Amino acid sequence: MKNIYLDNAATTPVDPRVVEAMIPVLSENFGNPSSIHSDGRVARSVIERSRKKVASFFNASPSEFFFTSGGTEADNMILRCCVEDLGVNHIITSGLEHHAVLHTAEELRDERGIKLSLVNVCNKGKIDLNHLEELLKEGGKTLVSLMHANNEIGTKLPLKQVGELCKAHDALFHSDTVQTMGHYAFDFQDVNLHFATCAAHKFHGPKGIGFLYMSSDVQLKPMITGGAQERNMRAGTENIYGIVGLAKALELAYEDVEGHQQSIQSVKSYMIERLKEAIPGVSFNGDSESTDSLYTVLNVCFPSSDVDEMFLYHLDIEGISVSGGSACSSGSNIGSHVLRGVNAPMDRPSVRFSFGRFNTKADVDRTVEVLSNIYNK
Ligand SMILES: Cc1ncc(COP(=O)(O)O)c(C=O)c1O
Repeated sequence: MKNIYLDNAATTPVDPRVVEAMIPVLSENFGNPSSIHSDGRVARSVIERSRKKVASFFNASPSEFFFTSGGTEADNMILRCCVEDLGVNHIITSGLEHHAVLHTAEELRDERGIKLSLVNVCNKGKIDLNHLEELLKEGGKTLVSLMHANNEIGTKLPLKQVGELCKAHDALFHSDTVQTMGHYAFDFQDVNLHFATCAAHKFHGPKGIGFLYMSSDVQLKPMITGGAQERNMRAGTENIYGIVGLAKALELAYEDVEGHQQSIQSVKSYMIERLKEAIPGVSFNGDSESTDSLYTVLNVCFPSSDVDEMFLYHLDIEGISVSGGSACSSGSNIGSHVLRGVNAPMDRPSVRFSFGRFNTKADVDRTVEVLSNIYNK
């Protein structure tokens, strides 16, 4: 029986058209983009064409995009360099952020003595905007870092509203957009956002490549020092085939972003419906049942049974790949700071199902059948 992959928030399968776009770069464009001879110049032009393409999807300038190894590096660079280069001494974030942000902010508090404030969240994972405003009023040179959509429970941030609040209080605003880039349309002219982050492997692109968006009204210095690559912002020979793969994956994602959204949402809604029918007592963690949440993520809390400890294992042996909490907690919801942060019942098994363009309702039927068998043994 074919395996069913429902762990697209951890990573997505690479689209074959992305592989196709990358192959000639791997086999032919081997030049070092920093070399001045023709092989180098060809490689350089491949990168700059990709950067231009990427910028075109966000109504932004190519000079505002810097390629990185992915989301973690970009998040790190923003937080660390805002402290180092822009004098940020107050970071406001939430306890539900990805560890790329949360652990970095904690380290900056412990090692650099910056003030770290965690904004209150409700049980759906939504930010308390009044509390955010109170924290902004405390002053200092402030960076607000709040994710656009939570990778475990799907809760979305009102990006524009938070951007306005930050503007009113003269704070810098970073949003970890790793789970939403390639899944929603963005217009960076329309939202007061200084920094955003991207990882290509979340939208059917390759791993190990992403970017940092930095609006032209701010300027950081590099976190990785060495050569003058990425206009002196990120040293190291560029991952040229990754960059081409990222640009192609983004093109495919934005070719029909609303169509993808509708079809993936319909698979997710079908899963909600089927689970409610088949397993009495299921509930949904955070905001993931709502149609206003990230349409790729559904975090389900199952009733207790005698297989609680082995829940994910049972799915795995049936060829169904899912995650408990997030991939970082490697297949278990134990230790998920997000589930704890929204007071999810920790004595029941929680599973994150996350969907992508290649999932179908037939995948849902098979998954629900396996789950029903677990409960009706
Ligand atoms: C919200 C969020 N931020 C950051 C990251 C890290 O991205 P990367 O795997 O590219 O380092 C992830 C990946 O799981 C994520 O979901």
